[in-house]
Amino acid sequence: LLAATATAALADYPEKPVTIVVPFAAGGPTDKVARDLAETLRKQLNNQSVVIENVGGAGGTLGAAKVAKSSPDGYTLLLHHIGMATSPALYRKLPYETLTDFEYLGLVNEVPMTLIGRSTLPATDFASLRTWINANKGKINLANAGLGAASHLCGLLFQQALAVDMTTVPYKGTAPAMTDLLGGQVDIMCDQTTNTTQQIETGKVKAFAVTTTKRLATPSLAKLPTLDEAGLKGFNVTIWHGLYAPKGTPKAVTDKINAALRKALADADFHKRQEALGAVIVTDARVGGAEHKKFVEAEIAKWGPVIKAAGQYAD
Ligand code: MLT
Repeated sequence: LLAATATAALADYPEKPVTIVVPFAAGGPTDKVARDLAETLRKQLNNQSVVIENVGGAGGTLGAAKVAKSSPDGYTLLLHHIGMATSPALYRKLPYETLTDFEYLGLVNEVPMTLIGRSTLPATDFASLRTWINANKGKINLANAGLGAASHLCGLLFQQALAVDMTTVPYKGTAPAMTDLLGGQVDIMCDQTTNTTQQIETGKVKAFAVTTTKRLATPSLAKLPTLDEAGLKGFNVTIWHGLYAPKGTPKAVTDKINAALRKALADADFHKRQEALGAVIVTDARVGGAEHKKFVEAEIAKWGPVIKAAGQYAD
């Protein structure tokens, strides 16, 4: 009888609202992807509401840990990014095992980053920014969202490429970080185009370069040089977002969520909204859980040594 009841419950999943945990503050790039995806996912999940819960802190690892410890019933999911691949090297006591404490439900998008600065910076392009940085060593505040954040990884690589140490100011997400950048409390930040495109277009922040190896198609960002062409040879950072459930979530449920995700990712309006902000929706095999997991494994192998070489870690 129990098995029959369980099967019946699976068939009707979801019968109540589904929560997607976003491990950063509301309003940032991860939150924006999650809320946009949640609205599109809802239509594919019996029109059940899909609610976002922001659990910020420790560069996204607190939110990830919360989901890893949640009941594996399909009602608590995690939308996270490249931090899943960098946190294992950054945290000596990570409160979860990245590859074994989650079911991998599919990769969602890939997002370039922009190097931006407060509008009052006396630099107008990357060359003059570099001059300003060299003239202000020891006095530069670089904002990020904590160890494990995409902005942390990009900022770390940027400091290494310039061989300049900056004071890093951590926030619970790049939405609050952006508020301080707009207010001139911090000097520069490396953040995803989903959070910076509008601020760049309205001139509220200065944009200096993009972190991908190819310039961006978004008209307002196309004029920005890549950091690689601007002199930081080989600089190449693209952020990605994936969807996860706690380990042990029944396959019938994870299959249903993955099928709903595939339909959501094929939604033309979702594509248009995301692409207007510079994000690229994943359309290859990584939308499947197995390939998503393989990709994260490869990203852990790629970024681990880079992080370890930087000697940055948290206990
Ligand atoms: C956010 O959503 O605030 C960002 O993903 C933070 C980051 O990872 O830089």
